[in-house]
Formats: sequence, C-alpha cells, structure tokens
Amino acid sequence: MDTCIHRVLLTCLLFSLFSPPFVSAQVCVSETFSSNKLYASCNSLTVLGATLHWTYHPSNGTTDVAYRIQQAATGWVAWAINPKMTGMLGSNTLFAYHDSTSGVVKVVSTVINDYMPTVRDENLTFAVHNRSAEYSNGTYTIYASIQLPGNKTTQNIAWQAGTDFTGGAPGGHNLGPPNVLASTSIDFLSGASVPVPSPASDNRLRQKNIHGILNTVAWGIILPVGVLKARYIKSLNPSSPAWFHVHKTCQSIGYIIGVAGFALGLKLGSESKGITHHGHRIMAIVLFCFATIQVCFSSL
Ligand SMILES: *[C@@H]1O[C@H](CO)[C@@H](O)[C@H](O)[C@H]1NC(C)=O
Ligand SMILES: *[C@@H]1O[C@H](CO)[C@@H](O)[C@H](O)[C@H]1NC(C)=O
Ligand SMILES: *[C@@H]1O[C@H](CO)[C@@H](O)[C@H](O)[C@H]1NC(C)=O
Ligand SMILES: *[C@@H]1O[C@H](CO)[C@@H](O)[C@H](O)[C@H]1NC(C)=O
Ligand SMILES: *[C@@H]1O[C@H](CO)[C@@H](O)[C@H](O)[C@H]1NC(C)=O
Repeated sequence: MDTCIHRVLLTCLLFSLFSPPFVSAQVCVSETFSSNKLYASCNSLTVLGATLHWTYHPSNGTTDVAYRIQQAATGWVAWAINPKMTGMLGSNTLFAYHDSTSGVVKVVSTVINDYMPTVRDENLTFAVHNRSAEYSNGTYTIYASIQLPGNKTTQNIAWQAGTDFTGGAPGGHNLGPPNVLASTSIDFLSGASVPVPSPASDNRLRQKNIHGILNTVAWGIILPVGVLKARYIKSLNPSSPAWFHVHKTCQSIGYIIGVAGFALGLKLGSESKGITHHGHRIMAIVLFCFATIQVCFSSL
C-alpha cells in the first residue's frame, strides 16, 4: 500500500513539475540584432522556440522581418508565408543553412508545391526585396524585406527547423508535435496572432468532445451510481456480499473510463499551444490522484 501511495504522489509531483508555467513572457522583447537593426513589433512564436520581429511600412505595403530560431549549426531553418491557404502546400519559404561546400550561411527561397519538395533558389509569388541570414549564439536569424502578398496585412505564416539534408539542400523535418504545430496567422499591422484553423483543430474538437463524454460518463454517472448502489443494496440486505460486487464492478469500469478521459485530457493539454486552463487542469489532476489512491486502498 505504501509503495502504491508513494507512486501516486510521485506521479502527481511529476505532473505539477511538467505543467506549463503560468505566464509565458514574450522572450522576443529582449532580443537584439546585428548592425543594431531595430523592429517595431515582435512575437514569440508558439513552438520550436522561434521569434518573429518586423516593421510594417503602410506606404508601400512591405514589411521588414527578422526570424530567429534555435538550431544546431549543422541543421536548417525555414520561415514561410502561405498566401493562399494554411499548411505546407503553397508556402513561400525562406530557408537558411550552412552551405556544405563554402560553410557560409546562405538563404534560399522556394515555393513548396508538394510534400517532398526539392529546395532550390527560385522567385516567390511575391517580391522579396532584400534577404540575408546569419548564425550566432546557437540561433539562425533570417532577415528579409517582403512585399506582403495581396497587400494584405494579415498573412498565414509557418516556420520550421530540421537536420536532414538531401543533395546539400534542406530535407525533411519531424512530423510530430511541436513541428506540425508551427503555423499561425499574423496581422503585421496590429501584431495580433491568431491560431490557424486547420484539419487538426477539427480533430481536436472531436477529441475534446470525447474527453468530455468519457469524463461525464465516468465521474458523473458510473462512479456515483456505484456509490449509490452500494449504499442502497447494502441497506436492503446488509448480510449479502452482492452490494460489494456491484460496487466493485461499477467503480472498476468507471475508473477505467475515467483514466481514458484523463489521459485524453492530458494529451489535449500538452498539445494546446500556450493555452492552459489552470483551474480545470489542477482539479482534474487532484481528483484523479485521489481516485487512484482510493483504488489502491480498495484493491488491498
Ligand atoms: C518601403 O517603404 C519603407 C519606408 O518608407 C522604405 O524604407 C523601404 O525601402 C520601402 N521599400 C521598397 C521596396 O520600396
Ligand atoms: C497597400 O495598402 C495600404 C493601406 O493598407 C495602402 O496605403 C497602399 O497604397 C497599398 N499599396 C499597394 C501597392 O497597393
Ligand atoms: C526572378 O525575378 C526577377 C525579377 O522579377 C527576374 O529578373 C528573374 O529572372 C526571376 N528569376 C527566375 C528564376 O525566374
Ligand atoms: C538589404 O539588407 C542589408 C543588410 O541588412 C542592408 O545593408 C541593405 O541596405 C538592404 N538593402 C535594401 C535595399 O533595403
Ligand atoms: C549573442 O549573445 C551575446 C551575449 O549573450 C550578445 O551580446 C550578442 O548580441 C548576441 N548576438 C546576437 C547576434 O544576438
């Protein structure tokens, strides 16, 4: 019993340690750039430790951007605007990496039209007036002055980093989170960042509904019914062990469904970028820990 409780308490401690911090500060504010370049706005992008700095010029619809992301010197980084849709296809992408022969940091622009793109330098669907990149302090920085497509200030952006190369040019990247979550929509005028509605969020909505249903069924119906049944049947016939079997079956089924609902909740929580429902999360973890301690006791 002692080891069981210890394990539960340890698990609870681990959850609290690895929960996201309560406030995520905009780390971008403190960043500086070579040649004392200054930008009017910045945004700490939600994943991969990337930041975007920019100055928008309403007079000619251009914006100067500086995109910074941590990456090993042997890896590549990318930043993209997708003028037509969200996702990888149609992304007008700027890549930076160390050229394998010269060793200098180079910038290459490519329009990505399939999932196995060949990265070669080509014109984008909008003008890039100026571009450069540098590597220092374990980070790549891409500088560019771009003509915002359609003269629209709100654009779908995406960013990426990887270590695979094919034929000396950037190859694939990891296909799990956080890499697949590296896109958003940014208003270069107001600075507002809006998560992109994607097929993934329909899936998220479905998972949220399943999370709700599982937890309602487990914590809201089966477990309370198990408790009521135990009290009711026991009071009808205190000598019969029937109440205990019914109770145990209900509580076991309820607990198993509850575990599934709780696990799905943790998965959803870990995937939601920068959003934490603290009250909900803490209550869920406390409730789950107490239920698990009780299961430990009753299974003795
Ligand atoms: C756009 O306007 C800004 C500010 O007036 C200027 O610094 C920049 O050079 C212009 N860019 C182009 C491509 O004309
Ligand atoms: C782009 O839009 C701004 C206002 O949002 C306008 O002042 C400017 O003239 C437009 N530029 C072009 C090239 O259409
Ligand atoms: C890219 O655009 C420039 C200027 O519009 C043009 O001179 C150049 O030929 C284009 N390059 C390619 C590969 O299409
Ligand atoms: C292009 O960028 C370089 C380096 O940031 C800068 O020295 C140069 O003046 C820029 N050129 C234009 C036309 O903006
Ligand atoms: C690299 O880090 C040093 C010290 O933290 C800092 O002074 C320098 O400005 C950084 N370089 C760039 C390009 O951010």
